[in-house]
Amino acid sequence: MCEIKINVKDITLSYGDSTVIDSLNLAIPKGKITVFIGRNGCGKSTLLHAIARLLKPQTGSVFLDDRNILKMKSKEVAKKLAILPQSPIAPEGVTVEQLVKQGRYPYQSTFKQWTMEYETALNHALTVTNMTELKDRNVYELSGGQRQRAWIALNLAQNTDTILLDEPTTYLDLTHQIEILDLLYDLNREENRTIVMVLHDINLACRYADHLVAIKNQKVYCQGAPEKMITRENIEHIYGLKCRIGVDSQFGTPICFPDGKGRKIN
Ligand SMILES: Nc1ncnc2c1ncn2[C@@H]1O[C@H](COP(=O)(O)OP(=O)(O)OP(=O)(O)O)[C@@H](O)[C@H]1O
Ligand SMILES: [Mg+2]
Repeated sequence: MCEIKINVKDITLSYGDSTVIDSLNLAIPKGKITVFIGRNGCGKSTLLHAIARLLKPQTGSVFLDDRNILKMKSKEVAKKLAILPQSPIAPEGVTVEQLVKQGRYPYQSTFKQWTMEYETALNHALTVTNMTELKDRNVYELSGGQRQRAWIALNLAQNTDTILLDEPTTYLDLTHQIEILDLLYDLNREENRTIVMVLHDINLACRYADHLVAIKNQKVYCQGAPEKMITRENIEHIYGLKCRIGVDSQFGTPICFPDGKGRKIN
């Protein structure tokens, strides 16, 4: 059995009277890449918010390294766990560099604002996300993809051993999608960081995830290694869509070909 990084125990999440997640249990393995999938509105972002302590559960608890996150101090949580929300909003007028610097806030003290470590973490985050040249640009003047990379840089500057990302590849062109997923893969494989993310691209999810979790009907519908979990039946149950399943000849991971309309050659 692998070690557990995050334990979600019997959690119920609601907005007013509307329950989105009901008595859900989930163990997220340490040092692995876990990907949440599911239909729009099934509660993936809501669950991620609760794991990051941005949303208080009605019942149940979330444990990070066996500690109840609701009982931890904010700065302590911020040193251990970073989250990139689905539609982050930057304060008006900030530059990329100023935005990314926010990631260092858990490490700042009143007396020691600047350190070599601070500068190194900042430059590293800008370099790996390809944002160094754009660091003086206003965040609002960036393209959707550039802005997304600036947010990912902020996340990396926080230098936490758990990183949660809600659809990190949204707005990114194919090159940048792979670049970001490769980067997260390296952070996982080389630095043993635990990555938890929401992805809509099933094929990329199958390629990068060690552990796949499908959310449906307010609960975990099924979970496991993508090669076991991605079957015609499961895709039909999760998405209400018929598909064919193939295999990526290079990676050996499942590929999902959805049914539907389209051009047919021959
Ligand atoms: N702040 C909110 N107030 C009220 N209802 C909300 C709020 N945020 C989300 N919801 C509702 O909760 C449900 C789950 O939303 P959530 O954003 O978690 O879904 P999701 O799985 O992330 O969907 P998507 O794939 O579209 O991002 C939806 O029905 C949504 O309308
Ligand atoms: Mg969402």
